[in-house]
Amino acid sequence: METEMLIAAKKDIEENGFLDVELDPTLDLFTEIERLKKEKNAILLAHYYQEPDIQDVADYIGDSLGLAQQAEKTNADMIVFAGVHFMAETAKILNPTKKVVIPDLKAGCSLSDSCPPPLFKKFKEQHPDHVVVSYINCSAGIKALSDVICTSSNAKIIVESFQKDQPIIFAPDKNLGAYINKATGRNMLLWNGACMVHEIFSLEKITRLKVRHPNAKLIAHPECEEPVLRVADYIGSTTGLLKFTRSDSTQEYIVATETGILHQMMKANPDKTFIPAPPNNSCACNDCPHMKRNTLEKLYLCMEYETPEITMDDKVRLAAKKPIDRMLEISAKAGL
Ligand code: 13P
Ligand code: SF4
Repeated sequence: METEMLIAAKKDIEENGFLDVELDPTLDLFTEIERLKKEKNAILLAHYYQEPDIQDVADYIGDSLGLAQQAEKTNADMIVFAGVHFMAETAKILNPTKKVVIPDLKAGCSLSDSCPPPLFKKFKEQHPDHVVVSYINCSAGIKALSDVICTSSNAKIIVESFQKDQPIIFAPDKNLGAYINKATGRNMLLWNGACMVHEIFSLEKITRLKVRHPNAKLIAHPECEEPVLRVADYIGSTTGLLKFTRSDSTQEYIVATETGILHQMMKANPDKTFIPAPPNNSCACNDCPHMKRNTLEKLYLCMEYETPEITMDDKVRLAAKKPIDRMLEISAKAGL
């Protein structure tokens, strides 16, 4: 990029989180993205909550654990991360020498934001006998204060890797923490954080839907609140939910998680019906506003200009890598 353009790009990213460049509407973005992948030896990783167009052009689509595993083993020179900031940051922690770009640097996460490192540090200091298990939906600063990281697909085995009498702090998701407490019989101390998307589902509306669709199964992500989880037929990570719809013989599902996952569910099961679980008001709040900041246009621009890029302090990065490595080791041993 020329100097003038570089200054404008930096300003755009600071103000908006992405390059604000007008694109020729006749440009075939799918072909362009494929071209850029080859030219730059780039891998495009996308979370299931990304819009369908992004999922369709990705090299790998997965849940947080799958994405971290792919990021760790890739030989690509550039990792293009279509997901939220903490996911791209995890890829950078695992791959400090690679360039990691994200379509929109402001694609954050309400759950991650609910746990600021200075506050959490104080909380941790008040419980010196506790180990810290942190859900991957947190900043590098929180990861650096943790003993081990977990995702929604390995949280149970990560927690069970500690002796039953080991006091544990679980952060930042109180809903996933409560679910794992119930599943393992532990009494972990829970940080009071939650996801704005998974807290919005209305039990009343789900109950009404179930009356109208008596054969439908309710499948839910463990970030949902306990009353929703209590009536769910299956609880799992996004990958777990998708796998369940493939192996289960039911024809209809009410899906209590972000709506992006429905794209892969419908592709994998064209004869089945998927109904997004309704939020408790009339907004589209079961769409994650952070995940949905990424668009195909922003994706193309970030690949073309290799910005916005994820960068971080090396001291934090090294401290954050340890608990992620520990998670990856425990997961590999468990065959995940
Ligand atoms: P997964 O572990 O299923 O990818 O969950 C990530 C997430 O952000 C859920 O809100
Ligand atoms: Fe964060 Fe919730 Fe969005 Fe997942 S769905 S990225 S937890 S705000």
